[in-house]
Amino acid sequence: MQVDVKLLRQEAAELTDRALEELLPSAETVPCSIHGAMRHSTFAGGKRLRPLLAYQAAATLAGSAPKGIEKLGAAIEMLHTYSLIHDDLPALDNDDLRRGKPTCHVAFGEAIAILAGDALQTRAFEVLASLECPPEATVQIISLIANAVGTVEGMIGGQVLDIESEHRKPTPSLVQAIHRAKTGALIRVSVVAGGVYAGANLQDVARLTLFGCRAGLAFQIVDDILDMTEDSAALGKTAGKDLATEKATWPAVFGLEQSRRDADRLIEEAFDALAPYGERAEPLKAVARYLVERKN
Ligand code: IPE
Ligand code: IPE
Ligand code: MG
Ligand code: MG
Ligand code: MG
Repeated sequence: MQVDVKLLRQEAAELTDRALEELLPSAETVPCSIHGAMRHSTFAGGKRLRPLLAYQAAATLAGSAPKGIEKLGAAIEMLHTYSLIHDDLPALDNDDLRRGKPTCHVAFGEAIAILAGDALQTRAFEVLASLECPPEATVQIISLIANAVGTVEGMIGGQVLDIESEHRKPTPSLVQAIHRAKTGALIRVSVVAGGVYAGANLQDVARLTLFGCRAGLAFQIVDDILDMTEDSAALGKTAGKDLATEKATWPAVFGLEQSRRDADRLIEEAFDALAPYGERAEPLKAVARYLVERKN
């Protein structure tokens, strides 16, 4: 089965962008500064990969993407954008370039950037509460996502470990814990939430969780590799930052060559979890392959 990943990416990005456009307050809504800031970072040109994963996980179970799933994708993208705004703040990674544009705090000041991140997070949960799937599925999705963004093996917990590990010699177990939490958790929950939206049973959830865990770790390994091998223009964010701040990265522990091999191996292992779905999982697998083959 031949899958056109570029087309899938384009369609998912358009679907997500349309939903975000509708769901975020306009830049003319008072107070204008924060809405301008939320939109600045949200529409700066992200790849929309987490929504794409959610749509394709749902399509793997249901045969096609269920009605209204773009709201789930938009909410996940709001959470991801919030994490980027805060990741770039002077107190964290102190970056001035994101998605090819000045970072939120450079364009709007630190106070508004902090609040724009907070606001994207609360708006995301408001949107999740109005999902068009059965109420039990909505509650399960909200719970899973809140947990994945949280402090215990979730995104925020991973960010804490990441910051506290700067300028120290990282171990394999430390870098694995950081990557699984700061990035892997949101990738994993994008896949699982897409499945739950489409009516996943317990077995489906277990399979998608395993797939999402492995793909999510591979995704951050590749982010680390690209930081070393691509330039800022290609990435739309400052290249070479990780070495400069002595971050705990996969290449810092294992070297570039093994990092590439690990990312490829993890994606192959991720596919094992999808074997029961046969041909229906081919688009989701193609998207996962793109996660490690991408150049930005
Ligand atoms: C970047 O994520 C931040 C990480 C979690 C590694 P993406 O590479 O998906 O960034 P965008 O959304 O395309 O800007
Ligand atoms: C970011 O990891 C993870 C989150 C935003 C939660 P990085 O700090 O490596 O992401 P980039 O490289 O700045 O996008
Ligand atoms: Mg960071
Ligand atoms: Mg960063
Ligand atoms: Mg990075």
